[in-house]
Amino acid sequence: MNNRILILVAILFSAFLGLSILQSSGVHGPARYRTADTVFNGFPVSKTAIASHFEKGFTTPIAIRLAEADAGRGPATAARCRTCHSFEQDGGHRIGPVLWNVVGRDIATGEGYRYSGAFKDIEGNWTAEALDEFLLRPRIWAPGTKMGFAGLGDEAERADLIAWMYQQADAPLALPEPSADDLAAFEAHKGQGAHAD
Ligand code: HEC
Repeated sequence: MNNRILILVAILFSAFLGLSILQSSGVHGPARYRTADTVFNGFPVSKTAIASHFEKGFTTPIAIRLAEADAGRGPATAARCRTCHSFEQDGGHRIGPVLWNVVGRDIATGEGYRYSGAFKDIEGNWTAEALDEFLLRPRIWAPGTKMGFAGLGDEAERADLIAWMYQQADAPLALPEPSADDLAAFEAHKGQGAHAD
């Protein structure tokens, strides 16, 4: 290897290191929108798609948004889901699984519903955070999903819908409390003087 190549390699490596440090320091928003294993569940996804959808900027943590959410606005948004889902106790599956009791439920375990392969390797249950990320961009969160819905880009609208979905259950769970990390990210963002919509 001659010197020029060595120098080039060194420069590239430093750039890579620098980018990694920037990424882990929260410059682009909350870590969960950037960490491949939470958002993308280990699936190979185009980096460009990830960048355009998840690195637009700071997103107020869902637990903080839920504290201010208006569940009364949920049904208006849920109307868009009803082409495919029912939210009622005896609603039954349609094109998509029934969403009564979906909050807290293990992912892809609606009894008697045939899910696509997209969900079979995704671990965990439907927390507010998982719902928020999934509903932002279903096809990026669960690549290959047969849910034919582009997503809800408005973070307040997602929070209102999720707050309402919490209530569509036999024994509604309490809304999650913002964690210390959520509050710190939110405060740090406010400190930078940018808007937190
Ligand atoms: C065009 C039809 C369609 C629309 C519109 C739609 N969904 Fe779905 N949804 C599906 C299908 C189909 C699945 C199953 C996905 C799979 O197996 O890949 C699904 C799966 C889900 C799941 C996973 C449920 C589980 O049991 O794990 C949730 C949560 C969900 N949808 C919520 C919503 C919400 C909320 C909306 C509206 C904002 C919505 N969906 C709009 C078709 C739709």
